[in-house]
Amino acid sequence: MIEARSLTKRYKELTAVDGLDFTVPDGSFFTFVGPNGAGKTTTIRMMCGLTPITSGSLEIAGMSLPDQVADVKSVLGVVPQESSLDRDLTVMENLLIYAGYFGIEKKLARSRAEELIEFVELTNKIDSQPEELSGGMRRRLLIARSLINNPRLLILDEPTTGLDPKVRRSIWDTLQDLTTQGMTLVMSTHYMEEASELSDIVAVMDHGKILSSGPPDELTADYDGSLEKLFLSMTGKEHD
Ligand SMILES: Nc1ncnc2c1ncn2[C@@H]1O[C@H](COP(=O)(O)OP(=O)(O)O)[C@@H](O)[C@H]1O
Ligand SMILES: [Mg+2]
Repeated sequence: MIEARSLTKRYKELTAVDGLDFTVPDGSFFTFVGPNGAGKTTTIRMMCGLTPITSGSLEIAGMSLPDQVADVKSVLGVVPQESSLDRDLTVMENLLIYAGYFGIEKKLARSRAEELIEFVELTNKIDSQPEELSGGMRRRLLIARSLINNPRLLILDEPTTGLDPKVRRSIWDTLQDLTTQGMTLVMSTHYMEEASELSDIVAVMDHGKILSSGPPDELTADYDGSLEKLFLSMTGKEHD
């Protein structure tokens, strides 16, 4: 689903993403894990066509960026790190306006929005505005919104940051439901535990580089099953 070769992003002298090579197989759950500043958001923003690639190549669903950015966007769902909900609109209206960006016909948009609102368990908040929702509910609404165009690939940037452990679990359940349905998921997180729990493949990042990548069990086999220990041994520093 995704093929990145020597993917690089520079901001003046700073190399935020430094020659990444990675492959995300169709139907897998792939996670970038690393501390703040590792380059996770920048990598995700390049995949979503939100920031230009400095060098290297990036292919999504067989289409290359930046040339085919419009086609790439049509198969992508994106849950950004910062909430980008419209505060003046209700839960339902937030989904409908988004459906409009994809040119989805109104009646279809409404039935799809209703289904998705039910999927993320917000039916009883359908006429509420974002500020009336808890942090976890807002995150679930962002997930529902990202699914409005029926994407093949869902990209989530730190979907559980700032949520308490119980609410994080409810987001994990939602994400696991989506992988069961066959969707490909790419997530970033700074929670090592979350990465191990959910992912088929983890890429451990620091300073714009992938330090190690593979199935969590294999990566951590020599580290008591702990990504934290692997990270510490590779960087000599505690994470978080
Ligand atoms: N628009 C920008 N201009 C300059 N530097 C940036 C910009 N966005 C991110 N950076 C820098 O790139 C590095 C990686 O940031 P980011 O991708 O946000 O990391 P993460 O999401 O892993 O916390 C950081 O050093 C950050 O300060
Ligand atoms: Mg980030």
